[in-house]
Amino acid sequence: MIDFPPRLDLARLPTPLTRLERLSAEFPGVDIWVKHDEMTGVEVSGNKVRKLEFILAEALAQDCDTVITCGGVQSNHCRATAVLAARLGLRAHLLLRGERPAELSGNLLLDHLSGAGITCISQADWHTHEEYGRELQREYERKGRRAMFIPIGGSDAIGLWGYIAACEELREDFERTGIEPDAVVAATGSGGTQSGLLVARELFGLSARVLAFNVCDDAAWFERKVRRDVAAWSERYGIGFDAENLAVDTIEGYMGPAYGVAGPEVYRTIAGTARQEGVFLDPVYTGKAFNGMLSGEARSAQPTRSNAS
Ligand SMILES: Cc1ncc(COP(=O)(O)O)c(C=O)c1O
Repeated sequence: MIDFPPRLDLARLPTPLTRLERLSAEFPGVDIWVKHDEMTGVEVSGNKVRKLEFILAEALAQDCDTVITCGGVQSNHCRATAVLAARLGLRAHLLLRGERPAELSGNLLLDHLSGAGITCISQADWHTHEEYGRELQREYERKGRRAMFIPIGGSDAIGLWGYIAACEELREDFERTGIEPDAVVAATGSGGTQSGLLVARELFGLSARVLAFNVCDDAAWFERKVRRDVAAWSERYGIGFDAENLAVDTIEGYMGPAYGVAGPEVYRTIAGTARQEGVFLDPVYTGKAFNGMLSGEARSAQPTRSNAS
C-alpha cells in the first residue's frame, strides 16, 4: 500500500485504455493499446494535470496564493497551471520562452483569459529563467504574498507522484483487461512522466519496461534528470529507493530536427493513426514517440503497449 501525499481532485480520471485494432493487425505479434490522457479534461488536458494534482495540493498546504511556472509560449503545462490556478482562486505567473506575439492565440490566449500574469523571456536569456522565477518569488513575498515556484513541466519531487498515481491506474487497467504489457511507451520532455512511471514500476512490481522517446535533449540528460528527481523524491518523502539502479531507457533518434519541429515521417504517423484509429497524436510529443515505437528499433525492444499521454 502506497501512502500518497495530499492530492487535489482536478483531472477527469480514470482515462480510458483502448486497443488500436487496425494498427495492431498491421504489426503481427504486436498489440498496441493507448492510455488516453488527452481526456483528463478539455482545458487542462494532457499529462500535466496529473502532476498538478499533487503540486497544487502542496501549494495550498503551504498557504501559497500565487504559483510561478515556466515553459514555451504555447506550453501545455503553463496553460494547465493557469486554468487550475484560476479554478482554485490562486494567481498564476507564467515565464514564457520567446517573444510575445502580436496576437494572442491557442494556449497563450487561454493563459491570458485565465488571468495569469505573463512575462516573456527571450531565447537568448532563457538560461536565467529559473533565477528570474526565484527573484519573482521573493518579490511576491516582499509584497506580502506567498508564491510557489514550479519548475518546467512540473517535473520535480512532488510532481513525480502524478505518474506514480497514473501507473496505479494503469495497473488496474491491466487487471481489468487481462493484459500483461512488455512495455509502457511515452514521450519524455522534462522527465517527470518518465521518472514517475519508472518509480511506480518498482513500487508496484510491474514487469513492463518503461521506454521513453526524447523530444529534446539527449539520453544522458534524461539519465541525470530522472536520477536527480527520483533521489529528491526519495529524500523528501523518506522513501528508501535506489535511484541509481533504475533502468532509465531513453530511446534517441526520433526527435527530428528540433524540439517542437517534426519531420515528414512524424506527420505521416499522425495522419495514419488519425485515419486508421480516429486517434490524434501531436507533432511535439506523442507523434514522435509513437513514430519511434512503430519503428524497427522500438519493435526489436518489443514494446506492446503505448501510453499516449
Ligand atoms: C502529450 C505529452 N506527452 C509527454 C510529455 C512529456 O512529459 P514530461 O514533461 O513529464 O517529460 C508531454 C509534456 O508536455 C506531453 O504534453
